[in-house]
Amino acid sequence: MYEQFFGLREKPFNLTPDPHFLYLSTVHREAIDHLYYGLVRGEGFICIYGEVGVGKTTICREILRMLDERFVVSYVLNPFLTEKELLRTILGDFGVEVPGKGTKKDLMDALERFLLRCADEGRNPVVIIDEAQNLSPALLEQIRVISNFEGNKRKLIQIVFVGQKELREMLAKRGLRQLNQRITVRYEIEPLTREETARYIHHRLVKAGSRGDLVFSERAVKRIHRKSSGIPRLINVLADRALLSAYVRNSFLVDVRDVKEGEKSLGEADGLFPKRRGLLAFLTG
Ligand SMILES: Nc1ncnc2c1ncn2[C@@H]1O[C@H](COP(=O)(O)OP(=O)(O)OP(=O)(O)O)[C@@H](O)[C@H]1O
Ligand SMILES: [Mg+2]
Repeated sequence: MYEQFFGLREKPFNLTPDPHFLYLSTVHREAIDHLYYGLVRGEGFICIYGEVGVGKTTICREILRMLDERFVVSYVLNPFLTEKELLRTILGDFGVEVPGKGTKKDLMDALERFLLRCADEGRNPVVIIDEAQNLSPALLEQIRVISNFEGNKRKLIQIVFVGQKELREMLAKRGLRQLNQRITVRYEIEPLTREETARYIHHRLVKAGSRGDLVFSERAVKRIHRKSSGIPRLINVLADRALLSAYVRNSFLVDVRDVKEGEKSLGEADGLFPKRRGLLAFLTG
């Protein structure tokens, strides 16, 4: 509603992981580098962790954009699946028709045949599992079995786990030592620093069409950083509300009072969520 007033083409602080708005902070760049070069080097297992809302899915989307036709990628966004559903999802993404009645054995055989063909053709199949902290023990076991498919010289498939920090503890337990030891690339995405929060906000404003006349004051940024702990999704929520408050005042300078006003409109009185958990709980329900 405020876009027109501020001369913006679109809302700058949407909550969808849109690569158009990608801001390459140090951590996001490093996460992308670890993932991309890990895949190019042919690492079998790669793991990317991070707090809720820190930008994991955003990075997956960017990687999907970066990988060239050498790679055949399956991106599993929601792993609340049965083993057969997982296999069907992966085969579907790879463009493989499911033969026979589609028993688990049919699915596994089809996958192995496809992987062997890729090895012959010099293509690299990759499965990226987002929200991997939700994988059930049965699915983890299924993935372990898939990852054991071998050709003449090397493993036939690369697996990427992306998930919240619990994923790390999860992989360390549950008799998954063997799988855990094979994860050779790990990266944890940390939240943004205060300076990066300022640049992140500016970057999003410019991407949304701002020509530099719409500005967040230093104190506004400082408060947004403190309240969000540098988590991009929380920055977006607070910055969006602060913009709305500035719009109501007819001001192109978003000030600390607008941030406070925004917090109130989120249903939390000032000081009620000094800790990250409060606002995070609000966002994740
Ligand atoms: N580097 C970035 N550049 C631009 N926007 C970002 C960046 N990182 C995160 N965001 C924004 O923050 C919000 C949350 O990002 P994303 O959905 O990728 O987080 P997530 O870590 O996958 O969260 P969850 O744990 O809930 O799955 C999105 O609106 C996204 O656009
Ligand atoms: Mg995500």
